[in-house]
Amino acid sequence: MVKASKSVSPAVIGLLHKFSEPEVSLLREKLLSHYDANHRILPWRSIAATEDDRNKRAYAVWVSEMMLQQTQVATVISYFEKWISKWPTVADLSKATLEEVNQVWAGLGYYSRARRLHEGAVKVMDDLDGEFPSDRDSLVEQLPGVGRYTGSAIASIALGSCVGVVDGNVNRVMARLRGIGADISAQATVDHMWSLADQLVDPERPGDFNQAVMELGATVCTPKTPSCSTCPLQSLCVAYRRSQDGQQKTSISSHFKMVGKSKDKVDESLVKDIECLPECDLCLRKEDWDSSLGVQNYPRKGQKTQSRQETSAVVILQRPNGQMYFVQRPKTGLLANLWEFPSIALTSEEESQWEESITQQLQEDFAVPQSYACLRIFVSDVLHIFSHIRQTYKVYKLSLDDKKPEVICPSKYQGSQWMTREEFMSSATSTAMKKILKAVESSEQKAKDKKPKRGKEEKPVDAKKQKTISQFFNASAKKQK
Ligand code: ADE
Repeated sequence: MVKASKSVSPAVIGLLHKFSEPEVSLLREKLLSHYDANHRILPWRSIAATEDDRNKRAYAVWVSEMMLQQTQVATVISYFEKWISKWPTVADLSKATLEEVNQVWAGLGYYSRARRLHEGAVKVMDDLDGEFPSDRDSLVEQLPGVGRYTGSAIASIALGSCVGVVDGNVNRVMARLRGIGADISAQATVDHMWSLADQLVDPERPGDFNQAVMELGATVCTPKTPSCSTCPLQSLCVAYRRSQDGQQKTSISSHFKMVGKSKDKVDESLVKDIECLPECDLCLRKEDWDSSLGVQNYPRKGQKTQSRQETSAVVILQRPNGQMYFVQRPKTGLLANLWEFPSIALTSEEESQWEESITQQLQEDFAVPQSYACLRIFVSDVLHIFSHIRQTYKVYKLSLDDKKPEVICPSKYQGSQWMTREEFMSSATSTAMKKILKAVESSEQKAKDKKPKRGKEEKPVDAKKQKTISQFFNASAKKQK
């Protein structure tokens, strides 16, 4: 069980969870040597290290950090390169349209990040004379979407400010190093992590140091397969020591004694005895230690907020020439401005009424006559996880005659367009929509590969109930009477 989030007064944070000055020096030395020998060569790092123009450095790091939020380094590299070659400076980005920006971002997800970059570029050019703010606080204040983490990353990596960073990787590294077992998202823990990060950062090489901690978290001190045997900070790590002992020690005395020793001596005697003050709020409670998890006992997460389940129908309306019908989402909200297949929310009805509801909505919202709507064919369910939503798309395909019927775009959308597959793939759209198209194409391929046996052809969704269209009309005419 994770401790409830409560305010922790500094008086009850034991020394175990802080670094002494000799430990700080040793940690900087070990970590930076490891980084120098092992770091990944990344395009934004090269710009930050070699570019003379501070605005170009800040711009490159800003773009990379926005892309890296929620996205792995390996995925970001090609997006970053494409972005920087299209818009090498903040002035270039400020002149782009949001449509172009979304197009280059397409596939990275969390599209508000792209919008914020664009808004920020316009702001830097219009309000700040083309000059990036020069410190963490003004970066946070002036640039939309730049919070404490991103502001600190830009300030340290691009501008050389001596400020620490805290992200998920840094949290994990520091929680393990200092045996911090309180809920990592509790405000008191967050505050403590930031104060540790600001204390640890190397004033000579703040950008490299911050990237070194993040990189250690991403490559060595990983969530599920930490590689303690190759970790340069093993001797400073409370979690490692505890995992070797297999149980918590009861004495804090030698930890206190250790503080203030010379650098080399510290290295020998680090984290020998690792029990903390009994009333300390940052410790992992004894009963919460799971010896089978070792260092993975840290960090501890509070109760996750349950993600929402949502279901919607997605209908691929297709003309004989292959063009498909798309609508453009509103300017604000989830997936703003992106192109998508017509969709119908299904959350409010009973599942048994979904098919009827889809037919009705296709008619009411998109003006697809009932006689066409009920000819749709179910393809498959496609699941996509957004940050807080488990979204199930029930995917249908509906082949229309050439230009008949005239499909109407509901007013909540910005507009609609018939697009070829190629046009769609290069438009600003979400990963979920691409996943849906893939599902349709793979079902078409399967159908081609496996010639259907007699009587086993794909049937329209209502075919089980209504054998022919005329029977369908008779039935619905009766219903309306
Ligand atoms: N994660 C986010 N930014 C990073 C950076 N600059 N280096 C390594 N990992 C990161």
